[in-house]
Amino acid sequence: MDAEVPRVATGIPGFDKLIEGGFPKNFVILLAGTPGTGKSIFSLEYIYNGAASLNENGVYITLEQKVENLKKQALQFGWDFDELEKKEKVVIEKMDEFDVGITIKKIKKSIEKINAKRLVVDSLSGILAQVSMHRELFSQVRGMYPATGTGLQMTHDKESMRKVIWDIFMRLSDLNCTTLIPSEIPVGTEQLSSDGVSEFACDGVILLKKLAMGREGIRTVSVEKMRSTRIDEAKHDLQFTEKGIIVGE
Ligand SMILES: Nc1ncnc2c1ncn2[C@@H]1O[C@H](COP(=O)(O)OP(=O)(O)OP(=O)(O)O)[C@@H](O)[C@H]1O
Ligand SMILES: [Mg+2]
Repeated sequence: MDAEVPRVATGIPGFDKLIEGGFPKNFVILLAGTPGTGKSIFSLEYIYNGAASLNENGVYITLEQKVENLKKQALQFGWDFDELEKKEKVVIEKMDEFDVGITIKKIKKSIEKINAKRLVVDSLSGILAQVSMHRELFSQVRGMYPATGTGLQMTHDKESMRKVIWDIFMRLSDLNCTTLIPSEIPVGTEQLSSDGVSEFACDGVILLKKLAMGREGIRTVSVEKMRSTRIDEAKHDLQFTEKGIIVGE
């Protein structure tokens, strides 16, 4: 039965075996963690490995950090994104739109440009911020909102936000890429998202954690959900080395 699900390996040492060898192809997966837990580094490594050695081009969209800074961070681990961009194996770009619909159209263009199979949208809160920033979206999402309302008021309406989030995941899923979405969760909660919806709307959830243990913190990774997959549910050590992330036993 397993053989029927095509898998997309992250190439991150120690990680893929937690999920039967990789993400099921074209899944949209949430990468949840508190600030500084390594969500962007994990995502950069996923895109880098795909383009550099696993024969899958990738698009990395940032809604927050500057492209330049992401590239510098990547270089610390020996991942040269400029070189991959020159070879048209990677697109890494910042998007400052105020409208999710436009953002997704632009993402689609970049995917088509290099025939990408992997996508990162960093981050979910960045995308959701666009929802509350731009009123017009609400008419796009099939008249769920009164025309007079402002975005900000809308986000306070739980049911509407729920629909917006499901809609965003559906649109991302239509892009035919295997997609990772870093998602910030507040420090000190056991929730998998700050919105309480995205962990249900996605196909999988990976959780990154920083635990305070003595003077040195310990970092862990666990797979909380992965549809169509027998998962290793344990928390595993996660370390940054010179070459990137290593997941322990
Ligand atoms: N070269 C490096 N070697 C070891 N650790 C590093 C290195 N570069 C960054 N880090 C660690 O990784 C952390 C940042 O990782 P990353 O940017 O991926 O986190 P994040 O979860 O995306 O954070 P945010 O929520 O702010 O976006 C830093 O706080 C630092 O502890
Ligand atoms: Mg980040």
